Amino acid sequence: MDPTPAQRNLHVFVCTTVGRHHCGGMGSERILLRLRDELERRGLTHVRTTRMGCNQQHHQGPILIVYPDGVWYGNLRVEDVDELIDEHLIGGRPVEHLRITPDGEWASTALT
Ligand code: FES
Repeated sequence: MDPTPAQRNLHVFVCTTVGRHHCGGMGSERILLRLRDELERRGLTHVRTTRMGCNQQHHQGPILIVYPDGVWYGNLRVEDVDELIDEHLIGGRPVEHLRITPDGEWASTALT
């Protein structure tokens, strides 16, 4: 039997690179902390979170990537975290209005 979306192991990478024009300067640290707090509060142990460095997409930042789905999100706010959890990390449905398409050398890493 295939696992339900809530049972899939997911890995969320949040860019926290520091700098005025980088994700860390646009609130990504607060997004990561809110995400971690909410995952713990809900007992969602199937989701791991990791800080990541710059992917040259900060013009669309703050960014976050969900693997193994290869879905990139951008222009995120702390207020978006609940929707990401409910829809994607639990429901298995990417949140289309928050998705971005990475450009440059990273474009091929977006799987869906
Ligand atoms: S600092 Fe986040 S993509 Fe460059």
